[in-house]
Amino acid sequence: KLKAVIFDLDGVITDTAEYHYQAWKATATELGIPFTREFNENLKGVSRMDSLKLLLSQAEKPVNYSDEELVQLADRKNKLYVELIETITPADLLPGITEFVADIRSTGLKTGIASASKNAIAVLTRLGVMDHFDVIVDVNKLKNSKPDPEIFLTAAAQLGVEPADCIGVEDAASGVDAIKGAGMFAVAIGNAAHFPHADIVLSSTAELNFRELAQTFEGK
Ligand code: G6P
Ligand code: MG
Repeated sequence: KLKAVIFDLDGVITDTAEYHYQAWKATATELGIPFTREFNENLKGVSRMDSLKLLLSQAEKPVNYSDEELVQLADRKNKLYVELIETITPADLLPGITEFVADIRSTGLKTGIASASKNAIAVLTRLGVMDHFDVIVDVNKLKNSKPDPEIFLTAAAQLGVEPADCIGVEDAASGVDAIKGAGMFAVAIGNAAHFPHADIVLSSTAELNFRELAQTFEGK
């Protein structure tokens, strides 16, 4: 029985996935490292430091950075990202999200946010939707990052529901794997070719329809 819907943030609630891309792209350009949108797919859902390491692995001539230098590079990217998110307003909620979340809640179901971003609270606050979610998982308290299911399992536990009674919504392949690893029903947003493990793939958040999704879930 469907009891909760747990959302990724970046690229699902708002298009901050684009801002992460822009900030990584600028960082890569400064370092003379090639960085494409296709390669950026591998960074979605991945923590800041792990993303940096993936980016650095694309260098034609690999450099051995010290831990301190790695932290500086990660801070540099975050500074660029924080500048970009300062412009966010409630108008930046992705199409259909407000209605979808309202429909879920009006049915008495719970909602949660499972984001790997340390900027999640800042983004949700700027969007004006902090009170639309019953639980926002604190990523600082987690041991494992997506595709490990820990973040989705933590959200379900904090909501007091069984993972099997949850739908997870993601725009990253690592996130879909985390949802499936948690034993939840996975809705992916984006290009179907990126999501072989999702239960449903929608090309945009505008296609999120609570009644249809709940029916598909109950019939699964
Ligand atoms: C999300 C995004 C990633 C980002 C990660 C960490 O998972 O999809 O692109 O790297 O959060 O975000 P942060 O804001 O902590 O650097
Ligand atoms: Mg995402």
